[in-house]
Amino acid sequence: MDFVRAAASARSAENCGAEESGQNTNAGAAEDTTRLAESWDAAAEEWIAWARRPGHDSYDVFHRAAFLPLIPAPAGLTADLGCGEGRVTRDLAAKGHRVIGFDRSLTMCRAVRTHPTQPMPAVVTDAARLPLPGNSVDCVVAFMALHDIDAMHETVAEIARILRPGGRLVFAVVHPVNSVGGFTGQGPDRPFVINESWFERHRRLDEVARDGLHMTFHSVHRPLQDYTEALADAGFLIERLREVTNPDPANSWHRMPMFLHVRAVRLADTHR
Ligand SMILES: C[S@@+](CC[C@H](N)C(=O)[O-])C[C@H]1O[C@@H](n2cnc3c(N)ncnc32)[C@H](O)[C@@H]1O
Repeated sequence: MDFVRAAASARSAENCGAEESGQNTNAGAAEDTTRLAESWDAAAEEWIAWARRPGHDSYDVFHRAAFLPLIPAPAGLTADLGCGEGRVTRDLAAKGHRVIGFDRSLTMCRAVRTHPTQPMPAVVTDAARLPLPGNSVDCVVAFMALHDIDAMHETVAEIARILRPGGRLVFAVVHPVNSVGGFTGQGPDRPFVINESWFERHRRLDEVARDGLHMTFHSVHRPLQDYTEALADAGFLIERLREVTNPDPANSWHRMPMFLHVRAVRLADTHR
C-alpha cells in the first residue's frame, strides 16, 4: 500500500452527493509514503471551510440523518475519534452526550476548541494511542475516519481497550465499493465500473472542487473484511451494518452504496 490512486469518482460522491454539480480533478498517480495523519493536517484549513459551509457536504444533505440514530443514548463518556473540526462532536453534545474529540491534527483540534458558538474539548492524539484509561468510555464514535487512518487495526484494538464491556463503537466509512469503483459516462443509469482489485489495499488521493471550495481527500481503500476482522480480533460483535447512499433517485449513487455504517458492542472479556 505505497502509492496513490487518484480518481474523480468515489470521494466526490462521498462529499457532495450531487455528482453532476461537482467538478473533480484527477491529480494523477504518484508515489506517496506520507502518513495519512500528516496529509490530513496539511488539508485541515480546506476541510474546516468545506465542512462548515452550510449544505455543502453530504453530512448536511443526508448523511447526518442516517448516522446519528445508530448512536446509543448518552451514558458516561463518549469519545469522538478523528473528530476533525468537530461537527459530529457538537451534534453529540447537542444530543446530551458528555463528549471529547480526539484527532491527530493540531489545526483540527484547535478549530473544535475555538468554535464560535459551540466550543468543545478536543485532544491532539493518534487514534491508536488514546490518553484514556481502560474501560473508561461508554461509546466511541468514528465518523468518516477509520478509512483515513493508517493503523486501522491497531486503532480498533485501542478503542476496545478504552471501552467498557457492553460499550458501543459506532462508525461510518466510505463503502469499499465506492473507493474501488466509479461511474462512467453520463446520466442516472450510467454503468458502474470496477477496474481495481477489491482485495488490494491502496492509498487514495481525491481532489474535489465545487462551488468555490477545493478539498483534497486522503484515504485508504480496504476490502470489507479488513473492518470486520479488526472488529472480531478486538472482541467486538457487530449489531448493525447498514449501506447508506444518496436518497435522490435522480443521482446515480442512488443505485450503489456510498457509505458503510457499523454499530458494534464490546464483549465482556470472558466472551472475547
Ligand atoms: C474526513 S475527516 C473526518 C472528520 C470528522 N469525523 C467529520 O466527519 O467531520 C478524518 C479525520 O481523521 C483524522 N485522522 C487521520 N489519521 C488519524 C490518526 N492516526 N489519529 C487520529 N486522527 C486521525 C484527520 O486528522 C481528520 O480530521
